[in-house]
Amino acid sequence: MEISPSILSADFSNLLAEVKKVERAGVEYLHIDVMDGHFVPNITIGPVVIKCLKDRTNIPFDVHLMIEDPDKYIKDFVESGAKNITVHQEACVHLDRTIQYIKSMGIKASVALNPATSLGTLKYILPYVDIVLIMTVNPGFGGQKFIDVMYEKIKELSTIRKKRALKFKIEVDGGININNIKDIVLAGADIIVAGSSIFGCGDPEVNIINLREAIK
Ligand code: DX5
Ligand code: ZN
Repeated sequence: MEISPSILSADFSNLLAEVKKVERAGVEYLHIDVMDGHFVPNITIGPVVIKCLKDRTNIPFDVHLMIEDPDKYIKDFVESGAKNITVHQEACVHLDRTIQYIKSMGIKASVALNPATSLGTLKYILPYVDIVLIMTVNPGFGGQKFIDVMYEKIKELSTIRKKRALKFKIEVDGGININNIKDIVLAGADIIVAGSSIFGCGDPEVNIINLREAIK
């Protein structure tokens, strides 16, 4: 299991120090939630802030774009240091074109699904994506409750991957904590995004150790 801590719940007045805490814990990605106030009802950060972290940490940036018309900004996020860019199926009119465009930049290209969006919408893109991100809360905010019916969706995606012998990873985002992480991994998750359960209280380094322990 890989961990991608979401900085959405970090102390933004001390962002680099927060990133250093999870870097010490040894995580596989740094999850950066970009929201535009249109696709989701919240506004966060953009390439200018992300670029400030580039060259200050060796954690690969996992950039989750919750924005309309993502094609317009992909180049900016690549220049800011993104190693993976995730776009929402619901935000892309030409998803195949967007995925190929991200790949042409030499980074990983991934797609996210909102809780109510069916896996069937990804049928013809699955062979081309590096990661499928299953949203297990409605995107826009940290600290929400995991939607239980999403276990079924993760399992179904894992079965499809096996049947079609595909290689994409399954990333799960929203409401993950020490009490449900094991079931989520057992359902088929390879990459776990956690915001409030890492940065929300206590020591992020200890919280990551506890999350890894909880799946044993
Ligand atoms: C929500 C974001 C998540 C969020 C997760 O729209 O995509 O990455 O930060 O936060 P928690 O882990 O608190 O649900
Ligand atoms: Zn996210």
